[in-house]
Amino acid sequence: MTIEVNNKTFAPYITAGEIQKQIDELAGRLNQDYTGKRPLFIAILNGSFMFASDLFKALTIEAEICFIKLASYKGTKSTGNVITSIGLDEPLKDRHVVIVEDIVDTGKTLSEFLPQLHDQQPASLKIAALLHKPDALAYPVKIDYLGFSVPNKFLLGYGLDFDGLGRNLKEIYQLQEE
Ligand code: IMP
Ligand code: MG
Repeated sequence: MTIEVNNKTFAPYITAGEIQKQIDELAGRLNQDYTGKRPLFIAILNGSFMFASDLFKALTIEAEICFIKLASYKGTKSTGNVITSIGLDEPLKDRHVVIVEDIVDTGKTLSEFLPQLHDQQPASLKIAALLHKPDALAYPVKIDYLGFSVPNKFLLGYGLDFDGLGRNLKEIYQLQEE
Protein backbone atom coordinates (compact mmCIF):
# COMPACT_ATOMS: atom_id res chain seq x y z
CA MET A 1 0.00 0.00 0.00
CA THR A 2 1.43 3.39 -0.97
CA ILE A 3 1.28 6.30 1.49
CA GLU A 4 1.19 10.09 1.09
CA VAL A 5 3.56 12.29 3.09
CA ASN A 6 3.78 16.05 2.41
CA ASN A 7 1.93 15.47 -0.90
CA LYS A 8 4.46 12.92 -2.19
CA THR A 9 3.72 9.24 -2.76
CA PHE A 10 5.88 6.55 -1.19
CA ALA A 11 5.75 2.78 -1.83
CA PRO A 12 6.78 0.02 0.61
CA TYR A 13 10.41 -0.92 0.00
CA ILE A 14 11.96 -2.83 2.96
CA THR A 15 9.70 -4.61 5.45
CA ALA A 16 10.08 -4.40 9.22
CA GLY A 17 10.99 -8.10 9.25
CA GLU A 18 13.77 -7.65 6.70
CA ILE A 19 15.17 -4.72 8.69
CA GLN A 20 15.25 -6.72 11.93
CA LYS A 21 16.83 -9.73 10.25
CA GLN A 22 19.63 -7.59 8.86
CA ILE A 23 20.14 -5.86 12.23
CA ASP A 24 20.43 -9.22 13.98
CA GLU A 25 23.12 -10.21 11.51
CA LEU A 26 25.05 -6.97 12.04
CA ALA A 27 24.72 -7.32 15.82
CA GLY A 28 26.05 -10.88 15.59
CA ARG A 29 29.16 -9.62 13.80
CA LEU A 30 29.60 -6.76 16.28
CA ASN A 31 29.22 -9.14 19.23
CA GLN A 32 32.06 -11.21 17.81
CA ASP A 33 34.32 -8.34 16.76
CA TYR A 34 34.00 -6.32 19.98
CA THR A 35 33.98 -8.94 22.73
CA GLY A 36 35.96 -7.57 25.70
CA LYS A 37 36.57 -4.22 23.95
CA ARG A 38 33.75 -2.24 25.54
CA PRO A 39 33.01 -0.30 22.33
CA LEU A 40 31.47 3.15 22.34
CA PHE A 41 28.67 3.49 19.80
CA ILE A 42 28.09 7.04 18.59
CA ALA A 43 24.66 7.34 17.01
CA ILE A 44 24.04 10.29 14.73
CA LEU A 45 20.69 11.95 15.40
CA ASN A 46 17.99 12.33 14.29
CA GLY A 47 17.72 9.69 11.58
CA SER A 48 19.62 6.88 13.29
CA PHE A 49 17.65 6.76 16.54
CA MET A 50 15.55 3.73 15.59
CA PHE A 51 18.37 1.75 13.99
CA ALA A 52 20.65 2.59 16.94
CA SER A 53 18.02 1.42 19.41
CA ASP A 54 17.32 -1.91 17.67
CA LEU A 55 21.02 -2.55 16.99
CA PHE A 56 22.00 -1.76 20.57
CA LYS A 57 19.25 -4.03 21.96
CA ALA A 58 20.60 -6.88 19.85
CA LEU A 59 24.09 -6.60 21.37
CA THR A 60 25.05 -9.04 24.12
CA ILE A 61 28.54 -7.64 24.81
CA GLU A 62 29.50 -4.79 27.17
CA ALA A 63 29.00 -1.63 25.16
CA GLU A 64 28.23 2.07 25.62
CA ILE A 65 26.23 4.42 23.45
CA CYS A 66 26.02 8.18 23.08
CA PHE A 67 24.22 10.48 20.66
CA ILE A 68 25.30 13.44 18.60
CA LYS A 69 23.52 15.59 16.08
CA LEU A 70 24.75 16.49 12.60
CA ALA A 71 22.59 17.56 9.69
CA SER A 72 23.09 18.06 5.94
CA TYR A 73 19.57 17.55 4.58
CA LYS A 74 16.63 19.81 3.84
CA GLY A 75 13.68 18.38 1.90
CA THR A 76 14.66 15.61 -0.50
CA LYS A 77 18.03 17.08 -1.64
CA SER A 78 21.29 17.37 0.27
CA THR A 79 22.11 21.02 1.08
CA GLY A 80 25.80 20.27 1.17
CA ASN A 81 26.22 21.91 4.58
CA VAL A 82 27.21 19.84 7.58
CA ILE A 83 26.04 21.43 10.79
CA THR A 84 27.02 20.12 14.20
CA SER A 85 24.37 21.01 16.71
CA ILE A 86 24.96 18.70 19.66
CA GLY A 87 28.60 18.04 20.49
CA LEU A 88 30.41 14.98 21.63
CA ASP A 89 31.36 14.98 25.30
CA GLU A 90 32.81 11.46 25.68
CA PRO A 91 36.62 11.27 25.48
CA LEU A 92 37.48 8.94 22.58
CA LYS A 93 41.18 8.40 23.24
CA ASP A 94 41.99 4.66 23.16
CA ARG A 95 38.29 3.74 22.82
CA HIS A 96 36.89 1.39 20.20
CA VAL A 97 34.36 3.62 18.45
CA VAL A 98 31.51 2.59 16.14
CA ILE A 99 29.59 5.34 14.35
CA VAL A 100 25.92 4.47 13.84
CA GLU A 101 24.27 6.11 10.82
CA ASP A 102 20.83 5.60 9.32
CA ILE A 103 22.01 6.17 5.75
CA VAL A 104 25.17 7.15 3.91
CA ASP A 105 24.09 9.10 0.83
CA THR A 106 26.75 11.47 -0.60
CA GLY A 107 29.05 10.61 2.30
CA LYS A 108 29.61 14.31 3.03
CA THR A 109 28.32 14.17 6.60
CA LEU A 110 30.67 11.38 7.63
CA SER A 111 33.67 12.47 5.59
CA GLU A 112 33.57 15.88 7.31
CA PHE A 113 32.95 14.43 10.74
CA LEU A 114 35.36 11.47 10.82
CA PRO A 115 38.58 13.55 10.88
CA GLN A 116 37.31 15.28 14.04
CA LEU A 117 37.01 11.85 15.64
CA HIS A 118 40.38 10.61 14.35
CA ASP A 119 42.00 13.66 15.98
CA GLN A 120 40.99 12.24 19.36
CA GLN A 121 43.03 9.07 18.69
CA PRO A 122 40.48 6.31 19.27
CA ALA A 123 41.86 2.73 19.39
CA SER A 124 39.67 1.98 16.35
CA LEU A 125 36.95 3.73 14.38
CA LYS A 126 34.35 1.84 12.34
CA ILE A 127 31.05 2.69 10.70
CA ALA A 128 27.74 0.88 10.97
CA ALA A 129 25.05 2.13 8.56
CA LEU A 130 21.63 0.66 7.92
CA LEU A 131 21.49 1.96 4.34
CA HIS A 132 23.93 3.07 1.69
CA LYS A 133 23.35 4.64 -1.74
CA PRO A 134 26.57 3.77 -3.63
CA ASP A 135 25.48 5.75 -6.72
CA ALA A 136 25.19 8.96 -4.67
CA LEU A 137 28.55 8.61 -2.95
CA ALA A 138 30.66 11.71 -3.72
CA TYR A 139 32.96 11.62 -0.68
CA PRO A 140 34.89 8.43 0.13
CA VAL A 141 33.43 6.60 3.13
CA LYS A 142 34.09 2.97 4.00
CA ILE A 143 31.15 1.29 5.70
CA ASP A 144 32.25 -1.62 7.89
CA TYR A 145 28.81 -2.87 8.96
CA LEU A 146 26.15 -2.30 6.28
CA GLY A 147 22.50 -3.30 6.35
CA PHE A 148 21.33 -2.60 2.79
CA SER A 149 22.80 -1.16 -0.39
CA VAL A 150 20.01 0.79 -2.15
CA PRO A 151 19.45 2.73 -5.40
CA ASN A 152 19.74 6.51 -5.43
CA LYS A 153 16.10 7.22 -4.58
CA PHE A 154 14.70 9.06 -1.57
CA LEU A 155 13.70 6.78 1.30
CA LEU A 156 11.36 7.33 4.22
CA GLY A 157 10.52 5.61 7.49
CA TYR A 158 12.28 3.75 10.30
CA GLY A 159 13.88 6.99 11.48
CA LEU A 160 14.28 8.57 8.03
CA ASP A 161 12.13 11.64 7.47
CA PHE A 162 10.78 13.82 4.71
CA ASP A 163 10.80 17.35 6.14
CA GLY A 164 10.21 16.01 9.62
CA LEU A 165 7.52 13.45 8.86
CA GLY A 166 7.55 9.68 8.46
CA ARG A 167 10.18 8.75 11.04
CA ASN A 168 7.65 6.64 12.95
CA LEU A 169 6.98 4.23 10.06
CA LYS A 170 8.06 0.67 10.90
CA GLU A 171 8.96 -0.12 7.29
CA ILE A 172 11.17 1.74 4.83
CA TYR A 173 9.35 3.38 1.90
CA GLN A 174 10.69 4.64 -1.42
CA LEU A 175 9.63 7.87 -3.16
CA GLN A 176 7.54 7.23 -6.30
CA GLU A 177 8.52 9.56 -9.16
CA GLU A 178 5.53 10.93 -11.05
P1 IMP B 1 25.14 12.40 3.29
O1 IMP B 1 25.95 13.42 4.06
O2 IMP B 1 24.79 12.90 1.92
O3 IMP B 1 25.78 11.03 3.27
O4 IMP B 1 23.72 12.30 3.97
C1 IMP B 1 23.57 11.75 5.18
C2 IMP B 1 22.28 12.12 5.86
O5 IMP B 1 21.27 12.63 4.98
C3 IMP B 1 21.70 10.85 6.44
O6 IMP B 1 22.24 10.58 7.70
C4 IMP B 1 20.21 11.13 6.46
O7 IMP B 1 19.87 11.75 7.68
C5 IMP B 1 20.00 12.06 5.29
N1 IMP B 1 19.48 11.29 4.13
C6 IMP B 1 20.19 10.81 3.09
N2 IMP B 1 19.43 10.12 2.23
C7 IMP B 1 18.17 10.15 2.74
C8 IMP B 1 16.92 9.58 2.30
O8 IMP B 1 16.78 8.91 1.26
N3 IMP B 1 15.85 9.82 3.11
C9 IMP B 1 15.93 10.55 4.26
N4 IMP B 1 17.08 11.08 4.71
C10 IMP B 1 18.20 10.90 3.95
MG1 MG C 1 21.49 10.72 9.51
